[in-house]
Amino acid sequence: MKSLMVKGGTIVTAGDQRAADVYCADGVIRAIGEKLDTPAGAEVIEAHGKYVFPGGVDAHTHMELPFMGDVSADDFYTGTAAALAGGTTTIIDFVIPGPGTSLLEGRRAWGEKAKKACCDYAFHMAITWWGDAVRREMEKLVKEEGIPSFKVFLAYRGSLGITDAELFEVLQTGRELGALISAHCEHADVVAALQQRLLAQGLTAPRYHALSRPAYVEGEATNRFVALARGVCEARDGWHAPPSQAMTVYIVHLTCRDSMEAVYRARELGQRVWVETCPQYLLLDDSVYDKPDFEGAAYVMSPPIRPKGHQDYLWNALASGLIQVVATDHCPFRQKDQKIAGRDAFTKIPNGAAGVEDRLSLMYTFGAAAGRISLNQFVDVCCTQPAKIFGLYPRKGTIAVGSDADLVVYDPTGTRTLSAKTHHQAVDRNIYEGMQVKGRIAATVAAGVVRYQDGDLRAERGAGRFIKRG
Ligand code: URP
Ligand code: ZN
Ligand code: ZN
Repeated sequence: MKSLMVKGGTIVTAGDQRAADVYCADGVIRAIGEKLDTPAGAEVIEAHGKYVFPGGVDAHTHMELPFMGDVSADDFYTGTAAALAGGTTTIIDFVIPGPGTSLLEGRRAWGEKAKKACCDYAFHMAITWWGDAVRREMEKLVKEEGIPSFKVFLAYRGSLGITDAELFEVLQTGRELGALISAHCEHADVVAALQQRLLAQGLTAPRYHALSRPAYVEGEATNRFVALARGVCEARDGWHAPPSQAMTVYIVHLTCRDSMEAVYRARELGQRVWVETCPQYLLLDDSVYDKPDFEGAAYVMSPPIRPKGHQDYLWNALASGLIQVVATDHCPFRQKDQKIAGRDAFTKIPNGAAGVEDRLSLMYTFGAAAGRISLNQFVDVCCTQPAKIFGLYPRKGTIAVGSDADLVVYDPTGTRTLSAKTHHQAVDRNIYEGMQVKGRIAATVAAGVVRYQDGDLRAERGAGRFIKRG
């Protein structure tokens, strides 16, 4: 296999920043140091004046997900190619078998779809129903399949959502298996009631999607999720067990102050709760739903984009280390022939938007370069923490001898404008359309191979590997 020298850049990890060369061979980082000799035949990337970050780890994607009567627009090929163009070299996608479907069958089906991935990938498993078979399959997934993280939907009653009794079973089983349980937190029944109330008044436009899912709906479900996780531990040990014996849980795509307050209360009781948010919840406010001509539909996702105020609150939590991960919830649907299904009722607009390509540029620009978080924190939330929390570290998420040679060479000079006209995501809208970001991805290296350089995307269908997690 080819070898590669990344020369003269400033290496930034979650804990360090230094000028050094990085030498990679056989897909692995072999040496890091000043003025390393370049072996004959090695490819060289000149990185003077540039940063060298670990390849991004996006812990929350949905490639070709069957959802709300449609399928998300990026498949594992287009979506992971876009990821590489944006500096993300590993994704963790959600296997989501519908109610009644075997988890192992779901894993097999996702494995087939993911064969065309161009970057490395791992899977989380969603639990959308309950029974003894599910319990048995969870065990197999953890012990044999390298899938030790599960997600439940407290939203989407009647499709993917589970009941509180089922949630309790999942938590109990997760605890027994030492698995990480994560949740999409929204009170499904209240959402359904608000939806019906709004539609009955003839309020059908995209804006009403946000009004049917207010922040308290998310805060309540977050509180319920962490409280039941605490209860599961109480039932066994009595609460006051040291935090090391309590189960850790993970909140996906947290959007608002109401949810963070529930997390803080749980942490005060000694619970370990990891929190993920996404760039859209940090950077956009709910005025996006007022766009004319059904353009608000592009922003219909669950939970929705929040009113002004929540964004600063989340930035502060991120800067203080109280939010650990920034992922994307990448789940795009085309405006022209997919989102349009909800022209007459916001409840029929497929939920989700693209983001896998722009995460690093957005977080670099509006986080690190803007001084809201440090450069090390930028690496931590985008690369290192997702790798650590989900069992990929130190293979992924850092720059160290022995780690996979997944690197981003970032040129901090200049600006560029994000747009659906120039992005690689297979969707006709970019929710960050027109935003100016600082710098650019000069090169993305995945498993020691240059996959993107100076605008030239060299994604290879099938080059991505499934990464079994411990
Ligand atoms: O609107 C969203 N978030 N779509 C993807 C599915 C999910 O809930 O994560
Ligand atoms: Zn979700
Ligand atoms: Zn999601």
